[in-house]
Amino acid sequence: QWTTSSIVDEQVARIREQIGDGKAICGLSGGVDSAVAAALVQRAIGDRLTCVFVDHGLLRAGERAQVERDYVAATGVNLVTVDARDRFLGALKGVTDPEEKRKIIGREFIRVFEQAERDLKAEGDYRFLVQGTLYPDVVESGGGAGTANIKSHHNVGGLPDDLQFTLVEPLRALFKDEVRRVGTELGLPETIVQRQPFPGPGLGIRIIGEVTGERLDILRKADAIAREELTSAGLDRTIWQCPVVLLADVRSVGVQGDGRTYGHPVVLRPVSSEDAMTADWTRLPYDVLERISTRITNEVAEVNRVVLDVTSKPPGTIEWE
Ligand code: XMP
Repeated sequence: QWTTSSIVDEQVARIREQIGDGKAICGLSGGVDSAVAAALVQRAIGDRLTCVFVDHGLLRAGERAQVERDYVAATGVNLVTVDARDRFLGALKGVTDPEEKRKIIGREFIRVFEQAERDLKAEGDYRFLVQGTLYPDVVESGGGAGTANIKSHHNVGGLPDDLQFTLVEPLRALFKDEVRRVGTELGLPETIVQRQPFPGPGLGIRIIGEVTGERLDILRKADAIAREELTSAGLDRTIWQCPVVLLADVRSVGVQGDGRTYGHPVVLRPVSSEDAMTADWTRLPYDVLERISTRITNEVAEVNRVVLDVTSKPPGTIEWE
């Protein structure tokens, strides 16, 4: 029988053995997994861990500030923030294929970590890279026995072949609920531990079509409204997560005031799940859906239609790409 504290003890011992007296970099995404992985490694090697937060421009509203403020306040970890917005947007220019996007994002993350490693050279040799890879990420990237590659998760199937780092992945055997318990055991605050999942490739895989700065701004606004309304309706713990997806290459005719509009649809994808391996679409109250729809179409000029995804997983996946 695995208890949470025995998982922590065992992982801390393993991390110490693997890293020895070396140093490690951990990419923080703002999500639960990387936060818990970092906290475990911090417990094991203390300030020989430096966290790197990559602002890749694919973040949701407020996310960067939240990591810089809340996570550092909770853990006292060393944090470096890298502004890599131009780099990621440049690399994604013209790309529409979902797997290609995922591979590019995975590769660019590593390039940024390599640069951070060079920048930190004066402080020592950061040879280890900590990642918050979970068991479902491994399985769905085709890493488990007899499984198909459904999507290349940015931190598994999306890694470049010439990786210079030795990976430290203390959550590789765990499911999300176990990760949350480990986070609580390590003393992380509820606001971090109970955060809904958000994928490493961020809004890049929620824009169907080419990712551009303008499209990201549109999606960020719509997403912030949906999150605000779901939170104020008290639904954060009922739903697992609710991706908001911009169908950037689709346009439809609408009417606003006296005028014709020709805007883009966004999709709401609220799901309920235990571990993200399977999911059901969440039956959100109509009045909440109405508020989200009204606000998005009023407040985001480029969006003139809000649609609801009522597909379970399988056959759909949670994210559209
Ligand atoms: P799918 O879309 O495969 O998503 O049903 C399952 C869960 O994983 C999240 N997800 C990711 N998380 N890197 C991550 O860290 C990724 O590349 C990635 N792709 C999907 C997704 O948000 C859902 O919670």
